[in-house]
Amino acid sequence: MLKKPLIAANWKLNLNPKEATAYFEDLKKNISSSDFENLAFFPPTIDLQVTSEQLKNTPAFWGSQNVYTEISGAFTGENSVEMVKSLGANMCLVGHSERRTYFKETDEEVAKKVQLIQKHEMIPMICVGESLVQRDSGKTFEILNAQMRTVINILDENRPFVIAYEPVWAIGTGKVATPEIAEEAHQFIRSQLSELLSKEVAQEVLLLYGGSVKPENAAELYKQPNIDGFLVGGASLKVDTFLQIYKATI
Ligand code: 13P
Repeated sequence: MLKKPLIAANWKLNLNPKEATAYFEDLKKNISSSDFENLAFFPPTIDLQVTSEQLKNTPAFWGSQNVYTEISGAFTGENSVEMVKSLGANMCLVGHSERRTYFKETDEEVAKKVQLIQKHEMIPMICVGESLVQRDSGKTFEILNAQMRTVINILDENRPFVIAYEPVWAIGTGKVATPEIAEEAHQFIRSQLSELLSKEVAQEVLLLYGGSVKPENAAELYKQPNIDGFLVGGASLKVDTFLQIYKATI
């Protein structure tokens, strides 16, 4: 069951299986089993086997950073929803801005992946967010609206999903959004969900903020009424800083 706070670690292209094992062993020594209900992990695909072994018997959310739009076939280098699910994963990250920028993922592809993830009874964590150019030209809400609308068209609102707002200009830059800027975007996303789906779904869905979240800024951000947790990149690579962020929310 998803509940607030949800603190998610996106390791991106970091930590090999040996390092991932050491990470989870360290993590388990420092928190109780019930804390895992509030944590999610997105390691590189090659770490998913050890993640599965390490997080077995915990209520943690975990899965891949991406999946392909097809289930099987001649698609060298890809991984399917079914493969990820076969390891016991229960959540997948989708539509991260690095995938949209470097791998030219479109809103339509993101939507198709979301559909496949839900169909396979996993929870999609859907990333949205504007670039600096888009923000500076006053297009933030237009961009968020376009990204949300395409996904919402195919989303099954009766199955769980999570939205992560990650302004591209705040990712890996050390430039965190102010609590006011983040809250304004989260309010907009919730109003879109209310308009395009329903008030009930909009109230229940967890909205995470991502972009230079650190132990020092987590508590202030989390005070905002529409911030239900975080999607953490750099600061999730060390158990200590990741747990400090989690502890700032409880
Ligand atoms: P940073 O926390 O390193 O800015 O990355 C955020 C992010 O992209 C998480 O998905």
